[in-house]
Amino acid sequence: MIQLPGLIDIHTHLREPGATHKEDFDTGTAAALAGGFTVVLAMPNTQPPLVNAAAFNTALQAARRKARCDYGLYLGATLDNAAELPALAPRAAALKLYLDATYGPLLLDDTQAWRAHFTRWPPNRPIVAHAERQTLAALLFIAALHDRPVHIAHVARREEILLIRAAKEKGLPVTCEVCPHHLFLTTEDVQDSGSRESGIRGWLSPSRGEVRPRLASPADRAALWDNLDVIDCFASDHAPHLLSEKDGPHPPPGFPGLETTLPLLLTAVHEGRLTLEDVVARLYHNPRRIFGLPEQPETWIEVDPDAAYEIRGADQYTRCGWTPFEGWRVRGRLARVVLRGRDAFRDGKVLAPPGSGKNVRN
Ligand code: NCD
Ligand code: ZN
Ligand code: ZN
Repeated sequence: MIQLPGLIDIHTHLREPGATHKEDFDTGTAAALAGGFTVVLAMPNTQPPLVNAAAFNTALQAARRKARCDYGLYLGATLDNAAELPALAPRAAALKLYLDATYGPLLLDDTQAWRAHFTRWPPNRPIVAHAERQTLAALLFIAALHDRPVHIAHVARREEILLIRAAKEKGLPVTCEVCPHHLFLTTEDVQDSGSRESGIRGWLSPSRGEVRPRLASPADRAALWDNLDVIDCFASDHAPHLLSEKDGPHPPPGFPGLETTLPLLLTAVHEGRLTLEDVVARLYHNPRRIFGLPEQPETWIEVDPDAAYEIRGADQYTRCGWTPFEGWRVRGRLARVVLRGRDAFRDGKVLAPPGSGKNVRN
């Protein structure tokens, strides 16, 4: 058995308020614990989005009542809330800028609005951006103009990781995260077939394969692995949508990921593609440093590195009930999570009750 620190997922969608049929603070944090995470930072693209005091307070109250692991909540930037957000910043995990279209109503399509947020948001709280391709280049320019650190969410393409490498080499204070689905899946895993067998290992239907950033080419995936030293964090981008929604006429983009991130990465460790230190740096040390997160006393996880099993959507705690990694054979099983001296997960069962999670900003 190997002991590791309680892991931190800096990019999680918990869907509360507004879409609790997909996930809520209870099921989402149960999924986090079942995945080895003792802290999740939840994204603001809820309904309503967390872009003002009223919505933010509603979400904070629900989280306080229902969360089983520790959490922080992001605030979302809009065209007109740059002046209002600094008052809420002390209680927020970070500020999120949505600069490309994705799931939810938040899209900041005006570089002057980006600049207003860079000017007003307090320097002791991170700014995180969804910025793909040329949007990433524009964002790095504006962050440099304002002399501000910025963290790039879910980097997926060769051109993006190489741009971040160049920015870092120039000395710009940029950090980034990469998701397991971009490390392990490509467009070649997506196939249009009339059969009902989507979900068996080997391929995903185009609608199940919808995610932002989109799954990229094998060359893009290889570039992520080749530039591992540029990747500061791994993040699940746990984006639960029901299978009925994914298989419907307007499939929303996003994959669940909280319960598959650790076993996929441990499998890569088993195969010699990563070291355990690489994983702990990117799921614990770097997230803590970049987001300024407190230590969790008497908190750790235990992993059996040799246990082999098959990923099954039906075995997961997430309410969405599926996974793009259905049937994948992995090596490395979470056996136990201890949170503040108490068993929070043991032998496949989540034991921490709703309400036992703490806000990392309190
Ligand atoms: C996310 C979601 O569903 O909230 N979807 C996704 O495809 N990643 C939004 C996001 O992270 O861009
Ligand atoms: Zn995004
Ligand atoms: Zn996301």
